[in-house]
Amino acid sequence: GYCIKIVIKMSKTSDLLFWYNQQNYNLPWRTDQDPYKIWISEIMLQQTQVQTVIPYYLNWVQQYPAVEDLASAKIDDLLLIWQGLGYYKRVHNILSTAKIIVKEYNGKFPQDYANLITLSGIGDYTASMILSIAFQESINVPIDGNIKRIMSRLYILPLEATTLKNYKKHTIDYIDSSNPGDSIQALMDLGREICKPMNPLCCDCPINTYCIANQKNLTDKFPIKIKKKSIPHYNISVGLIWHKNQFIISKRKKNQLLGGLWELPGGKRKIQENALQCLKREIKEELDIKVVKPKEIGTIQHKYSHMKLSITLFVCDYKEGKAKSLASEEIKWIQYREKKDFAFPSATHKLFKIYEVKKCK
Ligand code: ADE
Repeated sequence: GYCIKIVIKMSKTSDLLFWYNQQNYNLPWRTDQDPYKIWISEIMLQQTQVQTVIPYYLNWVQQYPAVEDLASAKIDDLLLIWQGLGYYKRVHNILSTAKIIVKEYNGKFPQDYANLITLSGIGDYTASMILSIAFQESINVPIDGNIKRIMSRLYILPLEATTLKNYKKHTIDYIDSSNPGDSIQALMDLGREICKPMNPLCCDCPINTYCIANQKNLTDKFPIKIKKKSIPHYNISVGLIWHKNQFIISKRKKNQLLGGLWELPGGKRKIQENALQCLKREIKEELDIKVVKPKEIGTIQHKYSHMKLSITLFVCDYKEGKAKSLASEEIKWIQYREKKDFAFPSATHKLFKIYEVKKCK
């Protein structure tokens, strides 16, 4: 049948807000304007999709409902909650910022840009987001990947014009100064649901009449794509080293990538080595022990933004020597069922999974 849609166009800001209110996505961080909660949600949302963030966010604010609760938390507990979200540097930043807010700002979030951006993990984007949503301040416009994509289509922005300042200038057209928080979140929703990177749903877009790319049928040409740099690939060997019902885990050093998380000992393969030779060398270097009866379990693939890993897992027995922590913060012998008390990177969880599958066969 036919469907006739009548849309009354008012203005850029009100067309966008009208759509936002109709959609009513009801995300949990939109139920109040507590800057603490806005801050936590925005940090989680920075590198992670909305649907993934929701359960992590709910769990976090339940365990740490206010910045004072967070300031006295232990980093290990926070990493455990954050497990699976990735970009763990965010957790370290969150804890140091919580401490500063409690100590130096009496537990009250600073309400100005200049103070906000001095805090760890808070840059132009997050500061602007907190100011818009929690304090209804419309001077600083947050720019993220979604907003860049939307603006580049609305205004067919050439690559050379795509400075942060330029994006902000265009985005302001869509920010209602009496309701900047909703306006900016409307743009986020639009980027996620309508103005998607591929196959945008232009017919359903509340601001399509203002969109030059849509008018000229150029949405697939904007944003102009920059060729991605190819990222390095590494082969890794790691060991599940057993001794009397326990195996060894090692804690990564604080300033390393994935700092503070636990993992299985092992490391990068050298060109002239095979996977097993690599395992033996790494275990000797990192723990100063000898392992025997190695059994190859399998290999998992894991992708980070800056590298790809193929990690081969070996199960082996411990033979002799006292295991030392030569390359890590700390090592521990734990039982398999105790691993839930430690935060591991997602790659390590993949290894546990292939181990369990193999063991059950
Ligand atoms: N992405 C980043 N911040 C967001 C927000 N507040 N709502 C929806 N998506 C987002």
